[in-house]
Amino acid sequence: MDTQRFSYNKQSIQEAAQLLRSGELVAFPTETVYGLGARVFDESAVRRIFVAKGRPSDNPLIVHCAEKADLMRVSEPLPSNRKQLFDALYEAFCPGALTVLLPKHSSVPNVVTAGLNTVAIRFPAHPIAQALIRAAGEPLVAPSANRSGYPSPTTAQHVLHDLSGRIAAVIDGGACAVGIESTVVNILTESLTILRPGSITKEQLDKTALEQGFQPFVYASGKESGENNAAPLSPGMKYRHYAPNATVLLASSLEEASLLATTNSPALILARPEYADGATVHELSEQSLYGALRKADSEGFQTVILVCDSEVQNNIALMNRISKAASEQ
Ligand code: TXA
Ligand code: MG
Repeated sequence: MDTQRFSYNKQSIQEAAQLLRSGELVAFPTETVYGLGARVFDESAVRRIFVAKGRPSDNPLIVHCAEKADLMRVSEPLPSNRKQLFDALYEAFCPGALTVLLPKHSSVPNVVTAGLNTVAIRFPAHPIAQALIRAAGEPLVAPSANRSGYPSPTTAQHVLHDLSGRIAAVIDGGACAVGIESTVVNILTESLTILRPGSITKEQLDKTALEQGFQPFVYASGKESGENNAAPLSPGMKYRHYAPNATVLLASSLEEASLLATTNSPALILARPEYADGATVHELSEQSLYGALRKADSEGFQTVILVCDSEVQNNIALMNRISKAASEQ
C-alpha cells in the first residue's frame, strides 16, 4: 500500500475522512503527538491499528472526540458524585492534552478498551484533529502513530518513517506544539489518580480537584498497578517505550555527559535549551525529546546522553519519558 501524504485543506480532510469511512487507517496531527486514527465503531479497522503498530492487544486505545455531545455515544453517564468533577476538568482543560477514563458504553468494541470496562476519552485541541473527527462522522481511536516501543511521532516525517506502506495516509500539520502525550487520569476510583503524567500537571489538576471538594490526585505507580492480579490500571505503562536503537544514558551534569561521551562515541548529548550549542549539545525539552531520540538513530549515533539536572528532574512528565527511553526492558 502506498501511504498518501496530505497537506491540510478542506478537500484533503474530506478525502481522509472518506478513507476512514471505508475502513482505512489515517494518521493526523494533534497538539501532543501524531495519532493513528480509525473510526471507533469500525472493529476491523481498530484491529488493524494493533497490527500496523505492532501493539500488544492488551493495551487499550484513547477515543478522540470533537465535542462534548460525542460522549453519549462512547460512555455511560458518570456516577453523580464524579459528574461535577468531570465537568470542571472539561471546563479547565478541554479541548487539550488531558485524557479521562469514563465508564465504557456497550457499543464501543471491546478491542478498543482491551476488555476493560472504562474507556479513555480525549478532546484534542488541534484544528486538523477536530476537523477530521467531524468529517469522519464519529469519534476516532488514535494511539500515537509510531511503531510500538519507538519514540512517539511529532512530525509527519516521523509517522512515514515508522508506518509508510502500512497505513492509507498521513495529514501533515507540521510539528506538534506539546511534543509528549496527554496526561491520563482516572476519576472513577476512590482516590483520583494520574496514570500517565503529561503537560497538564498534577498542580493544575489538583486546583480543580480541590475546588470540587476532592483530595489531590495521586500518581499510580507501576508497582501498584502490577502487584495485584487484576488488570493493570493503565496497561500501556508496563511496556518498553520511547526507546531509540541507540543506547540511552543519563547524566546529572553537562560535565558528566562530556565524560561519558568520550567513552561512548559517537554520542549525541541533549541538555536544557540554555546549554544547547547546535553542534555537540542539542536541546532537551518536551517539544524536542522524541525528535532528538529519532535523530540519534537516523544520524548513526551509538549513544544518546541526556543531561537530567535538577530542573529537568522537576519536570515529572519529561522525566517519565526519559526514564522509559533509558530503561532496559
Ligand atoms: O496525547 C495522546 O494521548 C496521544 C494522541 C495521539 O492523542 N495518544 C496516545 O495514545 O498517547 P497511546 O495509545 O500511545 O497511549 C494511550 C495510553 C496507554 O498508556 C494506555 O494503556 C492508556 O492510555 N489507556 C487507554 N485506555 C485506557 C483505559 N481504559 N484504562 C487505563 N489506561 C488506558
Ligand atoms: Mg503510544
